Amino acid sequence: MTEHRSKDSFTSNFGMVAAAVGSAIGLGNLWRFPYLVGQNGGAAFIIVYLALTALISIPILLAESVIGRRGGGAPAEAYRKVTGRKGWGTAGILGMITCLMIMSFYVVVGGWTIKYMMLSCMWQFHRGAVIDSAAMFGAFTSGSISPIVYSITFIFLTIVIIMLGVQKGIERTSKLMMPMLFVLIILIGIRSITLPGAKAGIEYLFRPDFSSFTFDSLLAALGQSFFSLSLGACMMITYGAYTPRSSNLTRSAAIISVSDTFFALIAGCAIMPAVFAFGVNPSQGAGLVFVTLPQIFTQMPLGGVCSVLFFFALFLAAVSSAVSLFEVITSSLMSITGKKRTTSAAIVALILTVTGSVCSLSQGVLSGVTVAGLNIFDQLDYVSSNFLMTTGGLLTVICVGWIMGKDAFTDEITAGGTIRVSKNLASALFFVIKYIAPVVIATTAILIIV
Ligand code: PFF
Repeated sequence: MTEHRSKDSFTSNFGMVAAAVGSAIGLGNLWRFPYLVGQNGGAAFIIVYLALTALISIPILLAESVIGRRGGGAPAEAYRKVTGRKGWGTAGILGMITCLMIMSFYVVVGGWTIKYMMLSCMWQFHRGAVIDSAAMFGAFTSGSISPIVYSITFIFLTIVIIMLGVQKGIERTSKLMMPMLFVLIILIGIRSITLPGAKAGIEYLFRPDFSSFTFDSLLAALGQSFFSLSLGACMMITYGAYTPRSSNLTRSAAIISVSDTFFALIAGCAIMPAVFAFGVNPSQGAGLVFVTLPQIFTQMPLGGVCSVLFFFALFLAAVSSAVSLFEVITSSLMSITGKKRTTSAAIVALILTVTGSVCSLSQGVLSGVTVAGLNIFDQLDYVSSNFLMTTGGLLTVICVGWIMGKDAFTDEITAGGTIRVSKNLASALFFVIKYIAPVVIATTAILIIV
């Protein structure tokens, strides 16, 4: 297969892994994983999550990178090239739309993280401060101008990284941000588990309770694994196109998944012990990080410092994931219109300013506008994670398993026979991609709809 890839690619395998880990580690790890674990039987959920990630998600991640590196272009182009069929370009367009929808609410939360980072730096959450964090958060997010200004700031910061390009923007910042993020979360984790009363939080997370693990828990584990690894949104197809031919895709897929899961577990250890030490009810989502935690910081020794570290970590996690979403949309637009990176990125930023503003307003003046009982923000979250990402994942495995076939798959993961991957492992991975993953994804999708 001829190499067709843009000159601006990752310089090394580490660069690609750092960028993909950056995409994977995001709000999903910090505000959903710890709560889901606690709710669904602690260690029981963790065991199932790990098994599903190893068995299903890693092969799908690998399948995406195979399409990306072999296709060597933006998602639609890559799909068309590896299948040799024009119609498959639609799968790439779907990925672009999925990223646009996720990004529309992600930039709103990204704006909130900037606001809270500033509040923490202004020492608003120091020990002894008297705040009503719920009222504070409600008043801010339901406002019309201020949250929009913050999300535009977030879009601006992300666009700067995208405009700098793959090597100088995405790779360089990921290599810097990811180690920082791990150090920050470990520091907060140490503070949290050394609080008196922290044991209950650790127990909430790690006590295996199979009676709380239901069939819905299984669906939640798979959904979380998908969202957390950014599967089904063409992220890895896009980054795969920038990956050097010498990279071992199988090993990289494993490293990305292990890092993401490891981070989610440390995030759990950083958040839940503190929540329990102060006797607060654990909640998920925005409520946990923007309402519960600020309240806790004001009661905790070193709370002010921890709040700065935490909101900075949250910001880094949000930016690095947003960069990948932005890149999928930008590279798609570059390939569709033939326009330069800077022009395409500017167009994407403009579109996101509009869609992000609507999402932001749906927390306030537009909260009455609902579809099936959900406001615009929640509806975008629901549709993209429950339907679009699963459909994207299904198309990926069908493309590799049923259209490209085993020979092309093996050729790509061994880089034409130059990288050693055991025959049994290659066969097992292909078997999962061709048979198991499509069945599991389709069954899950049907069960969610029913
Ligand atoms: N993986 C990110 C998170 O856990 O927050 C979310 C995400 C990023 C999903 C990029 C999809 C994507 F393409």
